[in-house]
Amino acid sequence: MDILAIESSCDETAAAVVQDGRIVLSNIIASQIETHKLYGGVVPEIASRKHIEVINQVIDEALTTSGRTMDEIDAVCVTYGPGLVGALLVGVGAAKALAYAKDKPLVGVNHIKGHIAANYIAHPDLEPPFMCLVASGGHSHIVIVSDYDKYEIMGRTRDDAAGEAFDKVARAIGLGYPGGPKIDKLAKEGDPFAVEFPKAVIDDAPYDFSFSGVKSAVLNYLNSEKMKRKLMDKQSDTQADAAERSPEDDLAGINRADIAASFQEAVTGVLTEHTMKAAKDRGITKIALAGGVACNSELRKKMTEACEENGFEFYMPPAILCTDNAAMIGSAGYYEYIKGRRDTWDLNAVPALKFE
Ligand code: KG4
Ligand code: ZN
Repeated sequence: MDILAIESSCDETAAAVVQDGRIVLSNIIASQIETHKLYGGVVPEIASRKHIEVINQVIDEALTTSGRTMDEIDAVCVTYGPGLVGALLVGVGAAKALAYAKDKPLVGVNHIKGHIAANYIAHPDLEPPFMCLVASGGHSHIVIVSDYDKYEIMGRTRDDAAGEAFDKVARAIGLGYPGGPKIDKLAKEGDPFAVEFPKAVIDDAPYDFSFSGVKSAVLNYLNSEKMKRKLMDKQSDTQADAAERSPEDDLAGINRADIAASFQEAVTGVLTEHTMKAAKDRGITKIALAGGVACNSELRKKMTEACEENGFEFYMPPAILCTDNAAMIGSAGYYEYIKGRRDTWDLNAVPALKFE
């Protein structure tokens, strides 16, 4: 079965052709990062417009690269949530138009299930049941995947997602957007134990996460360091010097690499610890990693080591399948399709689509 998959939930316009849920025949991604960089984050209205500009080209390229024509495609799968409503609507509209015109079945796919399915592509031997840590810009979940269409959420974030915390801290230390990869890189030059940032634990929910506390702790630490430096500068500064100082000068003398490394240590530590606890408590010995934050080198290292220590089998996709792409949607969509799921022409974008 060859599936054409479309993904446009955030700032990547993507299309792919996937065979039998596991073999990627093409995987085309048009990233909008360069555009959104100018604004320090994703601007939803701009994202929608950019999707419209390139979606037809991206779909054409996915078909051409795969060597399949639209007539040879068996079903069209598309992300319909969660995500930015205007962005999702572009993909959903394109998928519906194509499926309708070519009389193909249409299957709406949950974006988070797509992230998990990236592991099926990377690891042809992986089959449920397993536990998956999904950490992205919008979500942080510990999920038991008991079958291809059966999920149980054991833990979730109470506030910010892990990727969101990476992006906010990166902005605060002047690294810009997208923050995750920049923190990852800078952290390699820093000391992860230079500053002890809190790892929030929620009393009655041992598998849940809270990342707003560690983010605020970084901001408070930065502010107090800036204040200390201002007080020291006051003795030598003239009024003119002070007026000319830019926000970058405010960070001068602060060891940003130490902050990046210490923040990354706290977040990756808590993600790994909670996943290990959940797996042990439920007797699950197969663990997978998914979502954009799964690109993080320290998280990959910690999870690999922790799984080794506990004797768990560990699976993680390559970086290109961790961040948003359509191949993962083609895989998740395939398993929905063979279980009998079909959508009709009233399929709509659902920005806050629940994960169940
Ligand atoms: O899964 P994804 O591409 O989009 C969402 O579904 O949200 O995840 C994007 C998130 C961003 O917050 C980005 O900063 C983060 O993944 N990310 C990383 C790294 N690469 C991407 N976070 C930490 N370290 C990385 N190397
Ligand atoms: Zn995503």
